[in-house]
Amino acid sequence: MAFTPFEMERWQSTFEHRVDYNLSESGVHPLTVGALLSYARHGTDLSGVRLGYSQSNGTDELRQRIASLYPGATDRSVVVTIGGAEANFVGFWELAGQSGKAAVMLPNYMQVPGLLRNFDGGAIPFHLREKTGWRPDLNQLEAALKAGAGFVLVTNPNNPTGVALTLAEMDDIVSLADRHGAWILSDEVYRGAEVADAPVPSFWGRYDRVLVTNSLSKAYALPGVRLGWVVGPDDVVERLWARTDYTTIAPPSVSDALARIALSPDVRPRILERTRGIIRHNLGILADWVASSGGLFSYTPPDAGAIAMVRYRADIGSGELAERLRVEQSVLIVPGIHFGIDHTMRLGFGPPEAELVAGLERLGAAFEALVGVATG
Ligand SMILES: Cc1ncc(COP(=O)(O)O)c(C=O)c1O
Repeated sequence: MAFTPFEMERWQSTFEHRVDYNLSESGVHPLTVGALLSYARHGTDLSGVRLGYSQSNGTDELRQRIASLYPGATDRSVVVTIGGAEANFVGFWELAGQSGKAAVMLPNYMQVPGLLRNFDGGAIPFHLREKTGWRPDLNQLEAALKAGAGFVLVTNPNNPTGVALTLAEMDDIVSLADRHGAWILSDEVYRGAEVADAPVPSFWGRYDRVLVTNSLSKAYALPGVRLGWVVGPDDVVERLWARTDYTTIAPPSVSDALARIALSPDVRPRILERTRGIIRHNLGILADWVASSGGLFSYTPPDAGAIAMVRYRADIGSGELAERLRVEQSVLIVPGIHFGIDHTMRLGFGPPEAELVAGLERLGAAFEALVGVATG
């Protein structure tokens, strides 16, 4: 079976710790263990955590905490995984086993599309249209379902655009899936990291054939804890848990303990407040930088996540641009071509303010040098 690498993750895995300015990351700069523990009023002594195999679907207490975020869910509706990555993997494995074909929102985080390709499944695209501010083409979705897609992959809020579906669009996606008996695999890792006050709604509770994935990596600023989850119907979740026996057996016991702290009722709101504060503030910095570019850069403002898909008007492909920025300027961006959209770059605006400002300055200057266009 031919292997297709996950281009963006390869790029980030190889270079993100080897540059002066990393503008490729999609979350806000992470918390330290000390900062996380300082948010908690009690229960922060981790010295007693036994480093044995933990309860392999997540401790009961952690699954209850996660379930409490999804109305009507119980601890049996939840399986804890190693990040959103394993959550998506087991969700994909389950649903692709039922039908080899999926309707895939594009652009997207390319994990599940890549898995479909690697495991000889079929990905039938339905696009978010840049011209309409990344609204979904639901006619294409309908065609994909008619062509036999057994599940619909959505990432909402989206990566790479940061734009979220409207409630009406979500309802339309549900009714189309329902009409064709299809499942929805909804990757919601950017929920909780919204720019506005109102949280982006979940697909959970809108449809009975839905698997929702999420993790502590984005809204909770804890990607190094490597902890995620799937919420779904009890019987399906039971099967997903059985699949994790093949992949990772159990989440690390330390991560389970840290996750219980992060999701405790007193700590969770404080983490989310930090994340949203950074996102709002830094998005302003990005907006000013784009506005001062004299039309060289343009973008649709994101609803959530510390990412935006920025189009540039310069005659250089995004793959070459990204490589030159990395080598010549020590700045890492994600080239739009990793999402199949050239002459764009996904910019992460989640670093500490001083780093972001300096990174954008270097990026602007590099454009000037690369393409002979003055910015600012
Ligand atoms: C949409 C999406 N899903 C899943 C993941 C993987 O998340 P995790 O770090 O929780 O494994 C990412 C990471 O960037 C992502 O953007």
